Amino acid sequence: MIIAIDGPAASGKGTLSRRLADHFGLRHLDTGLTYRAVAAALLVKGLPLGDEPIAIEIAHNLDLSQMDKTVLSSHEIGEAASRIAILGGLRQELVELQRRFAETPPGAVLDGRDIGTVVCPDAAVKLFVTASPEARARRRTDEMISKGVDANFVSVLDDLKRRDERDSQRTVAPMKQADDAVLLDTTEMDIETAFQAAVEVVSRAKDI
Ligand code: DC
Repeated sequence: MIIAIDGPAASGKGTLSRRLADHFGLRHLDTGLTYRAVAAALLVKGLPLGDEPIAIEIAHNLDLSQMDKTVLSSHEIGEAASRIAILGGLRQELVELQRRFAETPPGAVLDGRDIGTVVCPDAAVKLFVTASPEARARRRTDEMISKGVDANFVSVLDDLKRRDERDSQRTVAPMKQADDAVLLDTTEMDIETAFQAAVEVVSRAKDI
């Protein structure tokens, strides 16, 4: 059983994916962390983000169990991840790693930008989770403030829009709703309502 969840930053797809994995007894992979881990390694080494051979080598040696979400969640690493995500060879390397994870029993929930379209096109269930840029910026700003990080709604909104643009306009595996994905717009939903809606979609697919 593979569940593919795609959508833009701060749409709620990460929380939903984790909760769905718990609920259905599946493993979970936040594929954004794989791009972030490679970006972070390049930044630490002071290497240019466009150095694809080195990026591929880092990806090849990536240990999924060592990816620390707390360390990798910074704004700077997110930006760098979005920049290296245009590199086709790097994507190929990471997609192989992600597929191996997905295909290991008993299956998994993967979330990202290209799971339903590229990584797991045959997933049993596909969701595209989105929300208006303003709703996402509000959530992201509140989340940062609650962690004691200085955040400004307007600049968070600008950043999100820029990242959406880059992630959806790149030529290789752009962020896109798969033709057979169910759209879940969480603009007017709290996380509990969104979770119940997602469980319903998965349960329906399991019955088929
Ligand atoms: O979901 P996130 O914010 O952690 O992702 C960081 C960047 O990684 C995102 O801006 C684009 C890239 N990414 C991608 O290209 N494909 C994925 N499946 C996941 C993330």
